[in-house]
Amino acid sequence: SVLEMEVEQINKGHYEHYMQKEIHEQPESLTTTMRGRLIHRGSSKSKSVLLGGLKDHLKTIRRSRRIVFIGCGTSYNAALAARPILEELSGIPVTMEIASDLLDREGPIYREDTAVFVSQSGETADTLLALEYALDNGALCVGITNTVGSAIARNTHCGVHINAGAEIGVASTKAYTSQIVVMVMLALAIGGDTISNQTRREAIIDGLFDLPNKVREVLKLDQVMKELAKLLIAEQSLLVFGRGYNYATALEGALKVKEVALMHSEGILAGEMKHGPLALVDENLPIVVIATRDACFSKQQSVIQQLHARKGRLIVMCSKGDAATVCPNEYCRVIEVPEDVDCLQPVINVVPLQLLAYHLTVLRGFNVDQPRNLAKSVTTQ
Ligand code: G6P
Repeated sequence: SVLEMEVEQINKGHYEHYMQKEIHEQPESLTTTMRGRLIHRGSSKSKSVLLGGLKDHLKTIRRSRRIVFIGCGTSYNAALAARPILEELSGIPVTMEIASDLLDREGPIYREDTAVFVSQSGETADTLLALEYALDNGALCVGITNTVGSAIARNTHCGVHINAGAEIGVASTKAYTSQIVVMVMLALAIGGDTISNQTRREAIIDGLFDLPNKVREVLKLDQVMKELAKLLIAEQSLLVFGRGYNYATALEGALKVKEVALMHSEGILAGEMKHGPLALVDENLPIVVIATRDACFSKQQSVIQQLHARKGRLIVMCSKGDAATVCPNEYCRVIEVPEDVDCLQPVINVVPLQLLAYHLTVLRGFNVDQPRNLAKSVTTQ
């Protein structure tokens, strides 16, 4: 009806689509996610994290033999992005499960496990069934959702709401970045403070405080990504190479392009390049390589060299000021992003890829908020 259309326009503000609005409001959604949860404790100025919904269970979580993340789609990717920092700060083995696959295999879940269920809607059927399965097996079940009162929020033993605000676009954007931030805070909470990791913890907490500003900065790439989308508009396929903290970014960037722009796209673990993907490389297939500064930087530089040697059509995402360092020739396109603490860099790096997927979709004339055949929450198996 006309009224419904008018309400919709009000909700979208000055944006044309919900996905566009949700991408651009990430500085605000991230601020809301962190509100009241980052603290400067006492006169020692020691910095800390407080997750109210978990504080009675932290001891049990710290004693668990394994932390297993369970989710689908974008929520799974968010957990994958947080996995390295959780492993580092907790010292506990962290494993990953796609909810449907865990159910297909009836994979082992034990009483000594902490199972973390990540879901924007809190209603995804596969994730909910995996939760029932983990409860039956006696694991401590933690929920990370964006929906207060959702089935996953109600049925887990404890949890954290990501507080990103309602997400309307079928393709998840602001929920993804808020989920990562919550899981980084989870890693800080589980890790506890020891003298040995104090500098590292403080750098991460400072990084969290400054994250909304960095995201505001990377959003300025909107036009750059639109220009890139124009170049890619008629392509059949797009590969995205990442590793380490940004393996998840590669998967999530490719998922966005696939979901909304209806273009084949694959996220590839760069370490696996020689075991198959290299066969696809020629002068036509566009390839995004994520090569921002972190411990994997030199390995990514060598990946760029090898793709270049096969005449790969390169688009390199690098830290600000690194364009000349990473580009093998003048045909290589660059996306320069602000540098951040390694474990927060995935929040920055996904933004240009969200923008690229958005612009590609609009330019190709597809429905960006309700992509063909997809639903916001998949409540059937
Ligand atoms: C659907 C949506 C995705 C979402 C996935 C998991 O496929 O289209 O955007 O990532 O479900 O949803 P959840 O609500 O559990 O995060």
